[in-house]
Amino acid sequence: MIVDVINKKRLGKELSYSEIDKFFNGYLDGEIKDYQMSAMLMAICINGMTDEEVFALTKVFIDSGDVLDFEGIIDGMVDKHSTGGIGDKTTLIIGPIVASCGVPVVKMSGRGLGYTGGTIDKLESIPGYRTNLQDDEIIKQIKDIGLVVTGQTGDLAPMDKAIYALRDVTGTVSSIPLIASSIMSKKIAGGAEKILIDIKVGNGALLQTKKDANELSRLMIEIGKLYQREVKTIISDMNTPLGTSIGNALEVLESIDILKGKETDNNLYDLCVDLSATMISMGKGIDKNEALKEVYESLNKGRAYQKFLELVKAQGGDIDGVKVSKKVKYIKSDTTGIVNKINALELGKLSVALGAGRASKEDKIDFEVGIKLHKKVGDVAKKGEVLATIYYNKEFRMPELETIFDIS
Ligand code: URA
Repeated sequence: MIVDVINKKRLGKELSYSEIDKFFNGYLDGEIKDYQMSAMLMAICINGMTDEEVFALTKVFIDSGDVLDFEGIIDGMVDKHSTGGIGDKTTLIIGPIVASCGVPVVKMSGRGLGYTGGTIDKLESIPGYRTNLQDDEIIKQIKDIGLVVTGQTGDLAPMDKAIYALRDVTGTVSSIPLIASSIMSKKIAGGAEKILIDIKVGNGALLQTKKDANELSRLMIEIGKLYQREVKTIISDMNTPLGTSIGNALEVLESIDILKGKETDNNLYDLCVDLSATMISMGKGIDKNEALKEVYESLNKGRAYQKFLELVKAQGGDIDGVKVSKKVKYIKSDTTGIVNKINALELGKLSVALGAGRASKEDKIDFEVGIKLHKKVGDVAKKGEVLATIYYNKEFRMPELETIFDIS
């Protein structure tokens, strides 16, 4: 009985592989209804899952769709995934850095949901850029330039997609076992042999504590072992937005500035350098310090930026066509002091209100809008000074200064 399985999880008991398989496949088949799956997800959220249950759920997700295999076609490929953040445009930067150092990168990225943006939306702000490459095009491009950033091909872990949509509206996104099986099933089905996961912690992230991030890290590494995939994790802060811009075209332009070496003194640059060096050390099997040297050299010699241009050209994009709105409003400081905090979550909410993100899956994105920050944590702000520029196309409610900036 369906209800017996839900009750078993509600009481915190361990479900067998067969119970998980039948329950979750029953949902895809329509036998189990949204309300029953919602109850199950909430029971999982509250009571957690044993490692065995997480392994079972991951397998059920993987088995629900296609499984890609690049072995013998693309060797030494490293994939990277972020659990999602505000202003997180790292893929646009580290893809070119890593590929320019000789490690092939095929990144199948997603769209944004909730307050966090998605790489595919950002890339689509480049007119003409194709995000729907087919398998043969991916293989040709990886052989030609060593770098592909596209949307997901095939039907990878379709069950995760269905469950994720339900989690999003039932308050069950932030469950460690559910996040681990969701991300790892897609990475494994996508054929990645070596996987770097950037786990975000903070008010703009799914996880709020370092302890939870460590637990997610452990689980993902364990799932990787089961499928002979090398998994590494980096835990990074998401109380403050990454870099200086939030919004699709703005984030592409900021990525170009980082790749050109125009912006080096911020959390985005530091994280990109760290992630790139880790991926290169995994891909080449070299020491991370050695990989770091390669990263700096690629950036300093302009090789990473050249690789970015090659990527955009190969996928049909026109980088000169990236546009931001001409309509702007400013957030100004009402006091003089040090910027103590910049609230990532509130900026995420503002970006969705502007149209840079989706409030629901059907929403259309406005690529031209967003927020550019002119101060970072630790900077001095003077009374009347502009702290942020808001690029908009439709009217929006200006947020209270204090909800975003803490200055004293
Ligand atoms: N990203 C995913 O793909 N799945 C999750 O559960 C959370 C973040």
